[in-house]
Amino acid sequence: MTAVPAPIAVALDAPDIETAARWATLVTPHVSTVKVGLELYMRYGPDAVASVRGASRVQVFLDLKLHDIPATVAAAARAVARLRPAYLTVHAAGGPAMIRAAVEAAPSTRIAAVTVLTSLGDADLGAIGLAGPASDAVRRLAALAVGAGAQALVCSPREAAAVRGEVGPDITLITPGVRPTGAANQDQARVATPEAALEAGADLLVIGRPITGAPDPGAAAAAIAAALRRSYADAS
Ligand code: C5P
Repeated sequence: MTAVPAPIAVALDAPDIETAARWATLVTPHVSTVKVGLELYMRYGPDAVASVRGASRVQVFLDLKLHDIPATVAAAARAVARLRPAYLTVHAAGGPAMIRAAVEAAPSTRIAAVTVLTSLGDADLGAIGLAGPASDAVRRLAALAVGAGAQALVCSPREAAAVRGEVGPDITLITPGVRPTGAANQDQARVATPEAALEAGADLLVIGRPITGAPDPGAAAAAIAAALRRSYADAS
């Protein structure tokens, strides 16, 4: 019997399309989703999506973090909706009209709003005129995005419980910054284990280098998926 794929989006941050496609083939038996980011999309465009999907039914998460005037974002969202991504990211800071424009332009795709980039600290936020602690800005932007029709939000696992409290049960919470116990943090400052991220209310865990940087990405994905299944079994 094949196990249900784990709620993991593997970040295919590869230098070239062949590597991304190889990683996708290795991990798709174990995970629900693969994530195509700016680097790959800027270089290869729609071919990147076709290559990582291959012949599989894996969901594609198109992480383009759109941020422009509503008409431009609507046109961009419409252009990529043809590729049938399950998720497309926009910046919540683009405002409600921009978010709604994306939602309406891509009705079969879940628009995921990025609240505050985890690379920004409180001092950086002050410098760009967003007063108050980052956690307040995250909650404010989460509520704004959901009010404008976003069906998903990207936030740090450390913020997931507060965001869940703000937006209720129906919004998909997507969390990067996930590190299995013992894995290196690399440049992620605020990390949580996969089990802790799900416990905090995350629905989809973005994991890149702990899987793609492993000697065998398929085995690494399978191991994390199995650990998550064990933690569900323990919790029930
Ligand atoms: O390799 P790693 O697990 O750190 O990859 C995380 C992925 O999530 C990267 O593709 C990164 O761009 C993305 N991401 C992030 N933090 C955010 C939003 C997206 O790390 N706030």
